[in-house]
Amino acid sequence: MTTPPLQSRLPRVGTTIFTLMSALAQQHGAVNLGQGFPDFDCDPRLVDAVNRAMRQGLNQYPPMTGVPALREAIVRKVESLHGRAYDAASEVTVTAGATQAILTAILAVVHPGDEVIVLEPAYDSYQPNVELAGGRVVHVALTPRTFRPDFDAIGAALTPRTRALIVNTPHNPSATAWTEDEMQHLARLLAPTDTLLIADEVYEHMVYDGRLHQSAARFPELAERSFIVGSFGKTFHVTGWKVGYAVAPKALSDEFRKVHQFNVFTVNTPMQHGLAAYLADPEPYLALAGFYAEKRDHFRAGLADTRLKLLATEGSYFQNVDYAAISDQTEDGFCRWLTREIGVAAIPLAAFYAEPFEQRIVRFCFAKKKQTLDLALERLARL
Ligand SMILES: Cc1ncc(COP(=O)(O)O)c(C=O)c1O
Repeated sequence: MTTPPLQSRLPRVGTTIFTLMSALAQQHGAVNLGQGFPDFDCDPRLVDAVNRAMRQGLNQYPPMTGVPALREAIVRKVESLHGRAYDAASEVTVTAGATQAILTAILAVVHPGDEVIVLEPAYDSYQPNVELAGGRVVHVALTPRTFRPDFDAIGAALTPRTRALIVNTPHNPSATAWTEDEMQHLARLLAPTDTLLIADEVYEHMVYDGRLHQSAARFPELAERSFIVGSFGKTFHVTGWKVGYAVAPKALSDEFRKVHQFNVFTVNTPMQHGLAAYLADPEPYLALAGFYAEKRDHFRAGLADTRLKLLATEGSYFQNVDYAAISDQTEDGFCRWLTREIGVAAIPLAAFYAEPFEQRIVRFCFAKKKQTLDLALERLARL
């Protein structure tokens, strides 16, 4: 018996750069600043809250759209931060992380042949998600090196077939955060179109230097056409729990839920109850920017005397560096060399583009314990 031959739905998907670099880091005993997740634990009060929920017997299927207390907590958070009141019953859906929310939004609205604009560099799930829906990705580059949106290019890419545009702010990998002016510019650009917005805001609580996170929820003309996606994994240092959410006007949420219902159906119950209880206190998410700003500043200060040129980190937990003064290798080559010879793993920015695009920039993740960052800095000091 042989397995029947398959025609891949995603023929271009292979082993990701994250897996490759992590394996290389392990092989060479390198400090892994490549993969974007914390190496420290979450608040024990959050674990206690989940534990309590489990012991109270909250272990069976929750409502399909999410535990009501968690949906209500999400509504309160969005309203207090951005001034838009979503309806917990009809406009908030709890998902298995932001990843599922983004795929679900795309499957819900993208029909075969529809176009979806993805701004590059981009998080790696967007393109395969659009392809699974039968849609066509239209790549528009963010301005090289500054990574600001190029509205002329976005405007030129909009066609009557453009079903959606994906915006990620604060941005992985560039660590930029869109300004109020940029969001308003986007609102004006989309106003005459039927293009929906998928706003990936998983780093919403990591914006620095007095900036405000410019959520699509703050702009009524955008909010009316947006799925806004958040991630408790990112916000509360529990990426392995995979709990996130999508908020969207009722008409969009209705379609979203049709896909959600027959995809994951529900998201694990005790985590949702634990998160709902923990969200009663806004302090942990309000303190997150200060917590990460300290790590960012420590990491940047440690690199100040190297030949690496530091790009701005306005938001997220990534620090990009330009290594042109050190090497003329490709970004991939430089990352492999850095891992092998210096003992620190990073991710080439080129990996976030569909077609290779070299800028001599690599991405470090600073969501790490102080001793992890210090060990990396000690090694990077040779540069
Ligand atoms: C931009 C962006 N969106 C979404 C995700 C996925 O979030 P989650 O772990 O909640 O699925 C990530 C994780 O790295 C990300 O960087």
